[in-house]
Amino acid sequence: MINIDARTHVKGESIYLDDIPLINGTLYAAAFDSPIAHGKIISLNVADAENCEGVVCVLTYKNIVGENEIGGIIRDEPLLADHHVHFCGMPVALVVAETDEQARAAIKKIKVEIEPLHVITDPREAAAKNELIIPPRKFKIGDSSAAFKHCDYIFQGIAETNGQEHLYIETQGAYAIPQENNALKIYSSTQGPTAVQKAVSKVTGLAMHQIEIDVIRLGGGFGGKEDQANTWAALCAMAAQITKRPVKYSLHRMEDMRMTGKRHPYSSDFKIGLNKDFNIIAYEATFYQNAGASADLSPAVLERTLFHCTNSYFIPNVTATAYSCRTNLPPNTAFRGFGGPQGMFVIEAAITKAAEELNIDRSIIQQKNLLQTGNEFPYGQLVVSEANECWNKATSFYNVNQIKKDIEQFNAKNKLYKKGVALMPICFGISFTNTMMNHARSLVHVFSDGSVNISTGAVEMGQGVNTKILQVVAQIFSIHPNKIKINTTNTFRVANTSPSAASATADLNGKATLIACNEILKRLKQVAADELNTEEKNIEIKNEEVLLNNDKTSLDWKSLVLLAFTKRVSLSENGHYATPEVHFDKTKEKGHPFAYHVFGTAIVTVTVDCLRGIYEFDSVKVVHDFGSSMNKKIDLGQIEGGIVQGIGWMTMEEIIYNANGKLISNALSTYKIPDIYSAPKNIDVEFYHSDKDNLAIFRSKAVGEPPLMYGIGAYFALHDAIKAFNPFAKISFNAPMTPEKVLMNLYASSKEAKK
Ligand code: MTE
Ligand code: HPA
Ligand code: MOS
Repeated sequence: MINIDARTHVKGESIYLDDIPLINGTLYAAAFDSPIAHGKIISLNVADAENCEGVVCVLTYKNIVGENEIGGIIRDEPLLADHHVHFCGMPVALVVAETDEQARAAIKKIKVEIEPLHVITDPREAAAKNELIIPPRKFKIGDSSAAFKHCDYIFQGIAETNGQEHLYIETQGAYAIPQENNALKIYSSTQGPTAVQKAVSKVTGLAMHQIEIDVIRLGGGFGGKEDQANTWAALCAMAAQITKRPVKYSLHRMEDMRMTGKRHPYSSDFKIGLNKDFNIIAYEATFYQNAGASADLSPAVLERTLFHCTNSYFIPNVTATAYSCRTNLPPNTAFRGFGGPQGMFVIEAAITKAAEELNIDRSIIQQKNLLQTGNEFPYGQLVVSEANECWNKATSFYNVNQIKKDIEQFNAKNKLYKKGVALMPICFGISFTNTMMNHARSLVHVFSDGSVNISTGAVEMGQGVNTKILQVVAQIFSIHPNKIKINTTNTFRVANTSPSAASATADLNGKATLIACNEILKRLKQVAADELNTEEKNIEIKNEEVLLNNDKTSLDWKSLVLLAFTKRVSLSENGHYATPEVHFDKTKEKGHPFAYHVFGTAIVTVTVDCLRGIYEFDSVKVVHDFGSSMNKKIDLGQIEGGIVQGIGWMTMEEIIYNANGKLISNALSTYKIPDIYSAPKNIDVEFYHSDKDNLAIFRSKAVGEPPLMYGIGAYFALHDAIKAFNPFAKISFNAPMTPEKVLMNLYASSKEAKK
């Protein structure tokens, strides 16, 4: 099944927010954002802006009809600054004008006087000052402090990861259109239509039933539009409510980079203890999450860091503590992996440190400690593991021993080029960690001509979820895909949805669709049975034919549907699915939060140019646990995209705020993501197939986020390549490993190296 968007994408006919035809009288909004990271607003003068050509109004928090509050988890986020600003880029006022250009020109005329307050950008400073978003969380299994007493080796260190700009191709935006009786219809580029609906409800004071959010598709979200699409929709809604005209705001790239939050940077301490046989006996980690100025999704992201702090390894004694630290940066938010990658980097750093000190191959420790079925995670869930299967298949299928030998030979022969290789096993839990979010609905209509129309809460953002949902319908009804259409995602068709996130969108919405289709199918079979004087169990629909005990009958799909309609049988159904088995008790920090886990192992190989510090990734070879993939092409695309995005995070994407909290890497000239030249020259993906029962749709395991974490291997491959050139380098665990850092490490303590 090809991606159902392939044709319109290639022809440029796919519709994104900016392609929606505009209604006459549409106004344009643009935000004036704080130039200062923290301070008290002394005065705000918008008079000159109001007098600019084409300006209809300039709105501040004073114009908000409802509440000036958009915080989703914690009520700590004003839509527009009131008396204080908390980060550079915080919206302060909204200019509404006849044209886009006029709105942006008028912004420059706004004058604000801000009394600066102390700016915090470092999460450890925030923690020291008790600037925490929520009380610290602690996951515990066994007794780590007692276990350290029995360890033969103990190593400690610090590991840090920087943030990451989402850089969805389509920037944030919204288009609000007033309806009868004060209602609003809003097109939004959001992963969470219901989250937008709730935020708009708060800000406008309208009840949710007055607010229709419609999403056609996104030009990427990557987590950045799980919560942070709310702001722009709420601003447009507020302006539409006041002006009674349609209002659109589509952010420019630099506005988007400046005003929106990113992946959370983390600074973490680790302590790892091993016995003589290199079994990891004890592990302690303390995570300092840089949350930014308000909570956004930080508490949930923090939780997933703890869930994934032991990655793919079994460790019997673990104490992991996490602090969500309030700083004066834009509120950081969901980003593919949702805090998991940040936790996994730290355990990989700890293992690397141990291997370095013990002078052994890192992969010995990794392999020794892989999760086995029946092991317990620090949060109490028992593992159904494919970790060893994936690792073993990867090492044998790709002949890792040979790869290592070749690299040794290469490094012995070459003075100014060095290669490094790292194995990177992953384990990622599938489900929203917040149990109550794991449910979805699907509205299925079969029309009297036999065509089918599906609405779910799933948002298509390039990950191919609509294609997968269409496959569910085609398979259950056994009809041709061209008879099925997936609708836009709309809060009036499917209500109270969870965002499309946590890699669980196809599972949740696919299963709801499956339930609805099965219900309609049962009715149709009953109609056929009545017509053919038999029982429902003897009827089957296959390739649009109605079969009675495997023989063709006079009925086909189309005539059966029409018959059911004439017999006044409902051809519509609303399926509801709630993931079974999942639960979690936050007071004990124990439970069974995930429907299942996804595993895999990557082998990442890099070549470093030791004169210049630049590098190329030769290959990434992966064995990935797909369960039984229902769409190998789409899943392969997710793996390849995730790997490259992960490598970008670990190696070249460098977000820099100065001490005043101003974003320095604020454009594509200074913030570099992998292009085709810096992507690995080769990505091989071997499908690890398993028929084991799991809770995935058609046993096709979720694939959206897990592959990003293969990119962590890139960091450690670089680490080893640098070491091959300069064995005396003391490389700190501080991602991204940019070419500048590589160069510094290559020549660090070089005097010693020469001796
Ligand atoms: N793939 C594309 N092309 N675009 C995206 O925005 N988002 C990722 C992943 N893959 C994303 C993507 C993230 S963060 C998640 S959670 C999942 O897709 C969401 O979709 P799913 O639940 O259908 O996997
Ligand atoms: N993953 C992604 N998004 C989320 C989650 C999660 O576990 N919880 C809330 N939003
Ligand atoms: Mo993905 S970070 O769960 O949107």
